[in-house]
Amino acid sequence: MAPRSRSYKVSATPFVIFAQLITIAVITLVLVWLLHFRKGFSFKSDEISKLFNLHPFLMVIGLIVIGGQAIMAYKSIPANRKTRKGVHLVLHLMAFLSGILGIYVIFKYKNEAGAQNLQTLHSWLGITTVLLYGLQFVLGFFAYCFPGAEWTARATLLPWHIFVGMVIFSFAIVTAEIGLSGLSQTVISFSERYMVNFTGLLILLYSISVALVVILPGRY
Ligand code: HEM
Repeated sequence: MAPRSRSYKVSATPFVIFAQLITIAVITLVLVWLLHFRKGFSFKSDEISKLFNLHPFLMVIGLIVIGGQAIMAYKSIPANRKTRKGVHLVLHLMAFLSGILGIYVIFKYKNEAGAQNLQTLHSWLGITTVLLYGLQFVLGFFAYCFPGAEWTARATLLPWHIFVGMVIFSFAIVTAEIGLSGLSQTVISFSERYMVNFTGLLILLYSISVALVVILPGRY
């Protein structure tokens, strides 16, 4: 019996390019949305709507876009393994710190507005996402960046590191989609609603591209 081929017959490269194009589109949309339609950012509590704006900015561009770039680093950076590993680590750290800051900002915003915390599914998924992200980062750091770890242990852990990483990335995507969908319903202007909806669609496409880059081989 002829062996069945399980290969996808395509390399990750076209999807890396696609993901980078979507990255540019998402950054542009989010900046136009928050700077033009919502009048920008402020860390001060006396400009409370501008304080809120930092939350979607840090979550979409920090946690999701930079987090996705970290995931793709092993296939997207034309460099040796050590450099790719460094980029993977640094980008994940940036994404995680954005997530922490994004949660701090929304807690500050809600406290200033006198609203109760952690009442929505979005907030529960959001907290879980950032906690799991931190746990995965610490475990990954000790397993792959600490000199003591055995090569065999690292190799055994790798499929689980990849699987759990993709689960956490999916958590981030679902949380952001719920956040954008909720906000879209409160927006009055048509053009702003379209910006928010398109951002949600592009984030979904981005997550599909990142998943394909993970499962497809770097070079065919
Ligand atoms: C992965 C990305 C995201 C995470 C981890 C996240 C996390 C959170 C958390 C933990 C809260 C609760 C704060 C509290 O209860 O005091 C919250 C609230 C909120 N977030 Fe996000 N968020 C994300 C993305 C977004 C996006 C893209 C939007 C779109 C505008 C958004 C809109 C909101 C809104 C309106 C609230 C206040 C209402 C509520 O508590 O549900 N979030 N977020």
